[in-house]
Amino acid sequence: MKKVITYGTFDLFHEGHYRLLQRAKALGDYLIVGVTTERYDKARGKLNVVDSLMTRIENVRKSGFADEIIIEETIGQKISDIKKYDVDIFTVGSDWVGKFDYIGEYCEVVYLERTKDISSTQLRHEAHRVQQIGIIGTGRLPARFVKESKFVSGASILGVYNPNKEHAAEFAKRNELKQYETLEELYEAVDIVHIASPHSTHYAYAKDALEHGKHVICEKPMTLRKAETAELYKLAREKNCVLIEDIKTAYCPGFDSLINVARSGIIGQIKYVDACFTRIADKNTRELIDVKTGGSFTEMASTLLLPIMKLMGTEYEDVRFDCIHNEQGLDIFTKATISYERGFASATCGLGVKAEGRLMIAGTEGYIVAEAPWWKTTYFEVRFEDASRVEKYTERFLGDGFRYTISDMVNRINGVTTSTMQLTKEESEAISNMIEQFLGQEER
Ligand code: CTP
Repeated sequence: MKKVITYGTFDLFHEGHYRLLQRAKALGDYLIVGVTTERYDKARGKLNVVDSLMTRIENVRKSGFADEIIIEETIGQKISDIKKYDVDIFTVGSDWVGKFDYIGEYCEVVYLERTKDISSTQLRHEAHRVQQIGIIGTGRLPARFVKESKFVSGASILGVYNPNKEHAAEFAKRNELKQYETLEELYEAVDIVHIASPHSTHYAYAKDALEHGKHVICEKPMTLRKAETAELYKLAREKNCVLIEDIKTAYCPGFDSLINVARSGIIGQIKYVDACFTRIADKNTRELIDVKTGGSFTEMASTLLLPIMKLMGTEYEDVRFDCIHNEQGLDIFTKATISYERGFASATCGLGVKAEGRLMIAGTEGYIVAEAPWWKTTYFEVRFEDASRVEKYTERFLGDGFRYTISDMVNRINGVTTSTMQLTKEESEAISNMIEQFLGQEER
């Protein structure tokens, strides 16, 4: 019996898929089809897949050509499948010519002519209008945001607004974008507003954008006060808009995996989370000059508090801040100790003091460690009392991470995913609450 194997995402099952499977089956007697998991697609940068794994499997099954369907979860899986199922022929479409020649060592490789003028990408574009994004702010972040947006299908950046017209013009020119003279002009042109202006302006811009019925990706921290953040989420709900606080870590596959592993019970009950993130900043940067809202805690707390809120909860009992200040009175190093009924957590950040950036989650049966840059999670270990027992996890983190946030926004607008698991409203509000408490203590 001649066994054939092929792999694909088979999203929005189309004629090209049907014809590929038909010809693959005709190459032998028994066809095995590997369908990619959501996680695998996300990890290899295929964002915005519309159909669920179950739907994609069901569509492959309904084609009637597959004798067996398996799932493809990891990058090196093909060779082991070929050995495991004793496969004679590996086949894929001609868009992959040359890419799988290495498999020729294990079985015959056949590239089948791809069906012209149809693809899942094309169908996704037809089904969902490309979402146009406008940016408010022209600093370092938006430049990275523009680059990253090119990796997300279904979204495109149109232009930029900054009340400082000179900055806006320069940014627009450098990034080949339109410059909007007024916010009204921007709202008229776009579906999504990315707010990347100074912290203290987030609330007013986000409120205005939501009132105009625009979806909002707001840089962290969303606002500096709990009531303001809560108000924005309420407004978003009323206006049927998606509101996202852009804590990139929250949207990347590695961090998602880390949280899931931590919550699985493998380290027992979680009692302590210790998160640290420092960056020596130039003394002249906004973060170390802006006496009202600058400093390390307002700048970095969102990322640090993310794993803490996710694992210890948003209902903390108390928080204590220990800080080191610069001459302007801005904190260049802060440690927040947060107490919970079942344990405690610490969040340490610095813009003027360097420390080991690490995330450690301690449980009653073991602990998890992710070294710097854990906020772009690619690797973590689960360790136990028996030091020889170590479980290692790796994930990819593509580019700058913005692509994960943008993709989440697009998927939520298109109704592909409605979940807000990555960062819930409650988590976002609790983070704002703690920043408010911090600024209250600072008496700026
Ligand atoms: N395929 C094909 N003809 C097409 C589209 C896909 O023969 N017009 C083949 C691919 O070469 C692959 C299989 O179908 O062997 C599954 O491809 P998949 O990546 O799931 O489909 P695409 O439509 O190419 O998806 P995307 O646009 O997301 O890349």
